[in-house]
Amino acid sequence: MKNIMKPFSRRLKKLGYFRRKGIIKSVAIAKKHIFSMIKGYPNSIMVEASSKCNLTCSMCWAYRASEYRKNTFLNIQDFKKIINDLSPFCSKLFFSFCGEPLMNNDIYDMIKYSEKRNMIVGLSTNATLLTKSNAIKLLESHLDELVVSLDAASKKTYDSMRVGGDFDKVISGVEFLINEKKRRRLSSPKVILQMILTQKNEAEVNEFIRLARELRADAVTIKSLFIDHHGDNDYQKILADEYLVANHIVSRYDKWQGDQVKLKKMGTCPNNKSPIINSDGDVCVCCFDIFGEYKQGNTLKEHFLDIWNRSDYQKFRDDTMLNRKLPICQFCVYSDVPEINIPLA
Ligand SMILES: C[S@@+](CC[C@H](N)C(=O)[O-])C[C@H]1O[C@@H](n2cnc3c(N)ncnc32)[C@H](O)[C@@H]1O
Ligand code: SF4
Ligand code: SF4
Repeated sequence: MKNIMKPFSRRLKKLGYFRRKGIIKSVAIAKKHIFSMIKGYPNSIMVEASSKCNLTCSMCWAYRASEYRKNTFLNIQDFKKIINDLSPFCSKLFFSFCGEPLMNNDIYDMIKYSEKRNMIVGLSTNATLLTKSNAIKLLESHLDELVVSLDAASKKTYDSMRVGGDFDKVISGVEFLINEKKRRRLSSPKVILQMILTQKNEAEVNEFIRLARELRADAVTIKSLFIDHHGDNDYQKILADEYLVANHIVSRYDKWQGDQVKLKKMGTCPNNKSPIINSDGDVCVCCFDIFGEYKQGNTLKEHFLDIWNRSDYQKFRDDTMLNRKLPICQFCVYSDVPEINIPLA
């Protein structure tokens, strides 16, 4: 009888352990949330693990910035310094910005380090490097959320947007990760398949949702295209003429008018307290500050809070950013126009 009960009690212990860990983490996160609200500190942050990318997606404004920036990977020591500054009050960390996070081999240790400091960790990837061994490393890192920037339900459409990627390879990487997650009975990461809605893929929305269901993803997100207005006029015109679907519920823009697109709705900026730390450690003010035009300091040289608490940065957040006074705000897709989020699980 004792022997029969042993595996069962072990399982119960395991379950209790995971539950406890969940409760402790949830309480710690809730505490940070309240603390950051009271102190006016950022509760979520984006970190650029890599400014390099292995693709040249036709609609992407971000990788173009790397032509003007030095291409770098954030190293683990610098990352730890940044997290040590931030983790006492910041509970959400998202790896994204200008490059491909999975190009940085330290990413798995970065996720583990942040997770241990009670942060909810997410990552946006093109998933071209999601080999079996990388998928296992991601599962074992305790990542909370994986956004797969897929954009298409067919190889032909995929190739027209995700230039340099391999649709079949991405699908089998995602399929392996989800199957392995289910086999190990893990509840994370939550896998979200994302589509940036364009003229190239608008006919495939239903097919995309079907594919996500087949793969047993947790959710689908359909998001507005963003048209950056730095420099290259041809890029803007091509995006407005050949990519923009203006009359869709998710689209932030009205049609091309004269030589520009116009936002449907402006409102105030909901994103003025979500800074970005780029791969050099610079604090960029938001995810549209891809050239660091408005950067406020460097986290590798100063404590993050010394930068955050400077009165000129406070004024910048509470007036210039909040009231969308920057040139980049005129086209920024942050607004209260809805995105489509479809939970599947
Ligand atoms: C710049 S990428 C960096 C992370 C990673 N390389 C990836 O593709 O997920 C971050 C997100 O921006 C999205 N993106 C790229 N170009 C866009 C555009 N013109 N409008 C809206 N989103 C875009 C990508 O699909 C991706 O989900
Ligand atoms: S993979 Fe991401 S960063 Fe790279 S070009 Fe595509 S959207 Fe841009
Ligand atoms: S509205 Fe302006 S400040 Fe706010 S996220 Fe957009 S570009 Fe940045």
